[in-house]
Amino acid sequence: MRSIIDVLDLSTGELDDLIRQAVDISERPRDFADAARGKKLATLFFEPSTRTRLSFEAAMYELGGNVLSVPGAALSSAAKGESVSDTAKVLSCYADIAAIRHPREGAALVASEAASIPVINAGDGGHCHPTQTLADLLTVHREKGRLDSLTVGFCGDLKYGRTVHSLINAMARYPGTKFVLISPEELKLPAYVREGTIRKSGLAFCETASLEEALPGLDILYMTRIQRERFEEAEDYERLKNSYILTAEKMKLAGENCSILHPLPRVNEISVKVDDDPRACYFKQVKNGKLMRMALILMLLREAKSPKEKREMGEDTGEVCQNLRCITTTEQELPQRFTIDPFTHRKKCVWCEAETKPLF
Ligand code: NCD
Repeated sequence: MRSIIDVLDLSTGELDDLIRQAVDISERPRDFADAARGKKLATLFFEPSTRTRLSFEAAMYELGGNVLSVPGAALSSAAKGESVSDTAKVLSCYADIAAIRHPREGAALVASEAASIPVINAGDGGHCHPTQTLADLLTVHREKGRLDSLTVGFCGDLKYGRTVHSLINAMARYPGTKFVLISPEELKLPAYVREGTIRKSGLAFCETASLEEALPGLDILYMTRIQRERFEEAEDYERLKNSYILTAEKMKLAGENCSILHPLPRVNEISVKVDDDPRACYFKQVKNGKLMRMALILMLLREAKSPKEKREMGEDTGEVCQNLRCITTTEQELPQRFTIDPFTHRKKCVWCEAETKPLF
């Protein structure tokens, strides 16, 4: 049995299998209408969501399964002070599989360690969002016919955008990927992703603040929302919120085959006038998300009877994680655990992956 906390929990071969399975489901939906009959998916969303929760639930219904849903932290025992671990143990008594979204980074990992059912991370703070990546990969595959040798621009909030972190983790596995990181200085990609994923992969990357300069060279542009809810100071958000707006005029700079992706929700970073452009793929991503979640649920339910997969959980060194958004700041008696990244030689929190000071 295993949980999916990060897209790296899936091998490249498994990503290919999930893509094949999702395409198969889209072509022969009736053949899958009973595939999860008698099974229950619990959805626990402690942060706002439209697409992710509904697509998980639609996915389970289309597989013939059932759904138990807690629609928000305010309506759950979390509001009474229940820990993530206890909530996960409770879920395990009622459901066969769970999808969890939580504002604290590392919360899904904590839930998966406590649960006796597979847990899927549906977004943990600014950290990871692996199932959005599955939607993104299927979209790229359908648009380009391949996942390798693509120049991918990521634009907007690369600091707090968890969908960016997860998609970079996935794309860094495909040979020939080039990353163009487009953001204001304050919202640059966290070091653990830039160093620990991109530089480690040896793939080409560059950082720029100019969308206009980057656009002509891209096969894919992944636009993102500035993540208002993750800012410590409201005035920083106000200053940065209009950093990038993709308009029909700017689309003239993009190549004729440049696919525009966005995990949604959009605020104002893509003009609605771009929606009718054949290069706009963001509503296709929404459909693809349901298909990939169906494929993932099937995979995890198939493996659910095998023993629980063990993770590398690092050591309790007595240090304290400095990340204020880490689950260790709220979860009672959760041990502080750290691992040393063999590439960067930096120590990082096992739960949220934030780095402590450099070792050397
Ligand atoms: C994203 C998220 O929740 O991280 N939305 C989604 O799941 N499709 C992106 C965002 O909120 O900006």
